[in-house]
Amino acid sequence: MKLTFFGQSCFLIETLGKQLLIDPMISPNPMASGIDINALKPDYILLTHGHYDHVADAETIGKQAGSTVISSYEVAGWYEKKGLKAHGMNLGGKYKFPFGTVKYVQALHSSVLPDGSHGGPAGGFVLWNEEACIYIAGDTALTLDMQLIPKTCPKLDAAILPVGDNFTMGYEDALIASDLIECNRIIGCHFDTFPPIKIDHDLVTKAFKDQNKSIILPLIGEDIAI
Ligand code: NI
Ligand code: MN
Repeated sequence: MKLTFFGQSCFLIETLGKQLLIDPMISPNPMASGIDINALKPDYILLTHGHYDHVADAETIGKQAGSTVISSYEVAGWYEKKGLKAHGMNLGGKYKFPFGTVKYVQALHSSVLPDGSHGGPAGGFVLWNEEACIYIAGDTALTLDMQLIPKTCPKLDAAILPVGDNFTMGYEDALIASDLIECNRIIGCHFDTFPPIKIDHDLVTKAFKDQNKSIILPLIGEDIAI
């Protein structure tokens, strides 16, 4: 399983011959100006929730690539009305797609679509197949429900957690989250894009190292093999 970071919470996952794009907000992000969204042809677009910093390019990319949107029932339905293919889910449900199984799990956060439509619950995804099992937390506070992930899903190989604070948990809570989900290989997201979520990379990296955990704070365009 190969991940490529495109800024904020956007990752491209390549696995079993399929491309999955997570939470695309690329063209409005000056830090991601080097990424050409016209070159992206994902088979699926996974949206954790409806906030603009997660969905900004979903319609454009979805239409150009004929992608299927996977999200909450409400967010998926909103994209279906725009003419995209969509697969709606709700919290606690899992479904076997051609690239693996996806479970839509609890996030403690809000969700509204760019036009003010109700986005349903905010969520995260656990994705697993023969290659790996990965947790994509989405925007969330630290929540005790994270303890259910190791009880209900295969052992995690890695987890993408928000660490920018203010709108989501910060790195201190992400450290506790990594205990709850029983995963010490963390990939940070939702940092540095806006002034309130700028982080001190050395401080965050050291805090994880001090607890014998690893965190990658990826550069935009950086590839990570899971
Ligand atoms: Ni959000
Ligand atoms: Mn966000």
